[in-house]
Amino acid sequence: MSDVRSAITDAVNFYGSATPLELISQFGSPLYVYNENVLRACCRDLLGLSSHPGFRVNYSAKANTNPALLKIIREEGCVVDAMSPGELYMERLAGFTPDQILYVCNNVSPDELKNAVDAGLLVSVDSLAQLELMGRVNPGGRVMIRLNPGIGAGHHQKVITAGKKTKFGISLDALPDVRAILEAHNLRLTGLNQHIGSLFMDPQGYLDAMDVLLHMATEIKASGLTPELEAIDFGGGFGIPYHKYENQPRLDLKTLGEGIHSRISRWSAENGYHGRFFVEPGRYVVAECGVLLGTVYATKSNGEHRFAGTDLGFNTLVRPVMYDSFHDIEIYRGAGAPVSETVVQNIVGNICESGDIMAHDRELPLIQEGDIIGVLDAGAYGFVMSSSYNQRLRPAEVLISADGTPRLIRRRETFEDLSAALM
Ligand code: LLP
Repeated sequence: MSDVRSAITDAVNFYGSATPLELISQFGSPLYVYNENVLRACCRDLLGLSSHPGFRVNYSAKANTNPALLKIIREEGCVVDAMSPGELYMERLAGFTPDQILYVCNNVSPDELKNAVDAGLLVSVDSLAQLELMGRVNPGGRVMIRLNPGIGAGHHQKVITAGKKTKFGISLDALPDVRAILEAHNLRLTGLNQHIGSLFMDPQGYLDAMDVLLHMATEIKASGLTPELEAIDFGGGFGIPYHKYENQPRLDLKTLGEGIHSRISRWSAENGYHGRFFVEPGRYVVAECGVLLGTVYATKSNGEHRFAGTDLGFNTLVRPVMYDSFHDIEIYRGAGAPVSETVVQNIVGNICESGDIMAHDRELPLIQEGDIIGVLDAGAYGFVMSSSYNQRLRPAEVLISADGTPRLIRRRETFEDLSAALM
């Protein structure tokens, strides 16, 4: 047991054979910690959504590209998407092969398209201009197009990725132009994809969006545009419960799985389709296997407002500042015991900005100097969105292996790393 407030990580023995305090003293603070068993369980949840032979879980690696995690995700049987040469590089390091990688990009250079084509990948383009560029880069080749179904959804305006107001996708009324570009360059349209947004907790919106894409696929197929269709990708957005201490319900995977399975089974039977169907979750795969640990160095009260000052600046995890996102908090004291009495507190970082708040007005056991703070569900869009703002070094990453032993999977940044670009 890790003590003052630790029920969520205790329940899965998150830290294995170590305690959070031992991890901090061995690897330093702040620190990203991942748990292999939790990661594998999340992969298996998703792989169990459908037994259809064409069904694939396409992990959207933008959520976390640490190669040690990617390797586990590959071992579990997921495939992966890439949206930049850097992500592709990390995925190859982790052993993914070209048939296991979809390149889903937007607004990229001819060199980047060529890099993906040369790697043997199916590439999704998301505008007529990029389709035209693809035709020039790879005449006669395969291409996937990202459709904009006209409806978007998401936990914040900044993560809604469909609908007229967003930069993503090609709308159905542009299909005559798509046809003209395909013909001009002998391109073969072999894939269709969409992604409507991030963090849905109700399966129905995703299933409705699947219906829209399958309807578009039927029309596109009937129009003769896709004689060799091999990939239909419904996108990601699968939400996780961030409000763990309030017992927020989980996404209903049973309903979602039944809905996915019946839709893809029916569509492939009706259309004689033997290709692949992808779902593309990022967050669901990695969020819950990650906790960000930090140390409390100062506590203070400004009038009625209490602050716990930590090394958890928004350079380490930007989600609360960028999207007002909520992450649950645990408190570890080593020699302490569970505490039930709570007070309202703010957990703030060490960045020179007043908006540097990790957790706002939270009812928590009174935080003391020397406590270790655990920011839960930090495995997705955590380290990958961290920065060296204020020239603070990006944290190290540690994996708690299946047998409970900790292993360093990325060293902490160094001053040499900060100055590397100057040389
Ligand atoms: N596929 C595409 C084409 C995407 O653009 C994304 C995410 C995903 C799949 C995976 O979405 P997920 O299952 O993780 O929701 N930084 C934000 C999330 C931005 C998501 C961008 N695209 C956050 O921290 O909430």
